[in-house]
Amino acid sequence: MSRFPKPAEGSWTEHYGLDTAPISYEDSISPEFYELEREAVFKRAWLNVGRVDLLPRKGSYFTKEMVVASTSIVVVRGLDDKVRAFHNICRHRGNKLVWNDFPKQETSGTCRQFACKYHGWRYNLDGSNAFIQQESEFFGLDKADYGLAPVHCEVWEGFIFVNFANEPEQTLREFLGPMVLGIEGYPFEKFTERWFYRAEINSNWKLFSDATQEFYHAPVLHALQSPPSFSGPAREAGFEAPHYQTDGPHRLITTGGIRPWELPDDKVKPMERAVRAGLFGAWDPYDLGVDELPAGLNPGRIDPWGNQSFQLWPNLVFLFWSQGFYYVYHYWPTSHRSHVYEGTLYFLPARTPRERVQHEMIAMAFKEFGIQDVNTCEATQTSLESRAVQRFPLGDQEILCRHMHKVCADAVDQYLKEQEV
Ligand code: FES
Ligand SMILES: [Fe+2]
Repeated sequence: MSRFPKPAEGSWTEHYGLDTAPISYEDSISPEFYELEREAVFKRAWLNVGRVDLLPRKGSYFTKEMVVASTSIVVVRGLDDKVRAFHNICRHRGNKLVWNDFPKQETSGTCRQFACKYHGWRYNLDGSNAFIQQESEFFGLDKADYGLAPVHCEVWEGFIFVNFANEPEQTLREFLGPMVLGIEGYPFEKFTERWFYRAEINSNWKLFSDATQEFYHAPVLHALQSPPSFSGPAREAGFEAPHYQTDGPHRLITTGGIRPWELPDDKVKPMERAVRAGLFGAWDPYDLGVDELPAGLNPGRIDPWGNQSFQLWPNLVFLFWSQGFYYVYHYWPTSHRSHVYEGTLYFLPARTPRERVQHEMIAMAFKEFGIQDVNTCEATQTSLESRAVQRFPLGDQEILCRHMHKVCADAVDQYLKEQEV
């Protein structure tokens, strides 16, 4: 028996018109599929590379290694305050333009011009060529033709997106679509306390993405995050989400609100009770200073809700907590069997020592369950690669995994069709 009502079709999976048959995970173990995915997905979709907070001043910049698109980019705030992105390559003889001690290491800083280490060519913050060393030695060369190669770049709600297509098929807003645009107006700019994790993981990026778009695993895999008096019954009850939604390539899951502050003593770790924060975030809601949160934040109108996980195609997650803070995840593929995971936690800046300790506690719990998830991803990768089993059943609580693998397969099919023409 379901705890929450299911759609009229009997399941969320059927409600959103998805097949119910077991699926293949060949898309996560095949080097050939990965090569197609790079072209069909990562060189076409809008990709979030960070927030404007990373570029606080005119001349602030950061570089990003975009291994999946075989490039490195530099993202910079110009003197006109506009955020632009460029391929991180010098127009003279192709040296990487912005890097410090190690060419593959990302870097950030503030400058007025970018200068190439090799022969000293320089570029303005808008990408135009500012200086050519011994310009008169060159043959009919016009500096104006030798600016940095631009990358399409748009900013939405302070999130910086890039697109590697020659001409993106959609504007960023068209790409995000109504479900995601429904969170416009969330006071993102107030969340200036930022905690950041980065990990190199030996699994396909979609395996970790799967682990964060279903919570069916949570009462089992993460059982030791809570005292047995909580985790035992939780495991028995299993997980159900009160609401799922899809919109184009994007997906959403709402969890019902678990309120640890209402639980008896023996069901919460003593440390969490002392700090009033932990696995389920801070217990005391934050005042976000807005009259009303955007309607798209909880489109299923679930009350109480715990968190809202927006899974944006292809590799971005916004996880909003009802108490008033949010996390962002990115999965950056580096091969068919590896990726870089980035987890960022955003809080309103701590106003008291208690809040500071709460954030520490939340970040620690986050790391713990992250490591539990990652272990499983790496174990799954090696097992899938045996190809001893080829079809895998997904339950209704795993609808978002099913949706994502289908979106991915459709994108690759579409790309292959276009190549035939
Ligand atoms: S490669 Fe950059 S100045 Fe020569
Ligand atoms: Fe998990």
